[in-house]
Formats: sequence, C-alpha cells, structure tokens
Amino acid sequence: MNKEDWFSVPIYYRDNIDVDIYEKRILELSKEEGIKKSNAGGWHSKDIKDDVFFKPLIDIIQEEANQVWLDFNPNKKGRFVINSMWSIINKKDNYNMLHNHPGGVISGSIYIKSNKDSGKIQFDNPLGIYKMLEYAVTESDCFYTWREISYDTPKGRLIFFPSYVKHHVTPNKSDEDRIVIAFNMMSEFD
Ligand SMILES: [Fe+2]
Repeated sequence: MNKEDWFSVPIYYRDNIDVDIYEKRILELSKEEGIKKSNAGGWHSKDIKDDVFFKPLIDIIQEEANQVWLDFNPNKKGRFVINSMWSIINKKDNYNMLHNHPGGVISGSIYIKSNKDSGKIQFDNPLGIYKMLEYAVTESDCFYTWREISYDTPKGRLIFFPSYVKHHVTPNKSDEDRIVIAFNMMSEFD
C-alpha cells in the first residue's frame, strides 16, 4: 500500500552562536521592572528589539531566518522580520507556563546563559487528535501519538518554531540563572 505523511511541525536549531557579550547587558536591563507574560517567577523584559546593543545578534537571527523563509515561501521574495524581542531570566524554580506567540508567524529563542538543569523547552503536539489516539494505542509512544517533544537549551543555541505551537519551559533546577532572548517574526514581502 502507499503511505504519505502530512502535517509535520518544523523545529530549526543552530548551536554554538557566540552570545557572551549579551549577558551583561541583560543583567543591566533587569534592574528595571519587568512585565508579566508566561513567566512563573523570574523577570521578563520590555521590548528590546530596538536596543542597538543586540544588533549583531539580530543580524545572526535574520541570516538564519532567511533560510527558514525558503521553506515557507519558496516562490515569494521577502523575509521574516523581527517585530518583537524580549529577554527572560528564570531563577531557581522559575518556569514558563504553556503558551504560544499570537504576535508572530515564526518565533524563536536564543540561550544566553543556561546549563543542563536550567530548563528545557517542550513543544506540545498541535494536532488535537492525539488526545483521542491515546485511548486507541495501549503504549502511546509512537510518532503519531507523542504529546510533546523537548529540546535542551544549551548556551549559544538558536531555535526557531512556528509561532502557533504551544510550548512551556520546565523549572530551573540549578542555582544559576537561565537567561534567554526570545522573539517573534512576521512576513515581509518585496
Ligand atoms: Fe514562548
């Protein structure tokens, strides 16, 4: 018989980006009061996309996003552009609740300070049908019934994901801060 698979969710990542210079700037900014979003504890910055200090990082994100664009718009000239960017500091036991990013088409995170215990990012299976399938499959561990997939968040890793995918960040179980910069991107056509 024939078989075709449809409706997959692309997650992109690139490792070993040099992010050393950004921690100090974020710690400076964190002296200001933060805002409340998906964070349970921790600090969430105001928008930082126009902070010139982050321009080199934005350039790297843009370069990688241009590759992602080709998957989504193979026949249209344009690009994804950052329309919001923020930083989050999770201290011990802080985490981020399940959410998605209605303000973007593609979203992403880049890890500025982290270690293996400071919290993974977990993406929910956006196909609601999996909730029905789990009753039909005794050992619900095949590709079609996975509830979620998690990614480690090592320092210097940049991840892109479709903004509609719900995700959460597990609690920071280390004594060190976990610092991330996250962003939303929208389409801009030529
Ligand atoms: Fe998020």
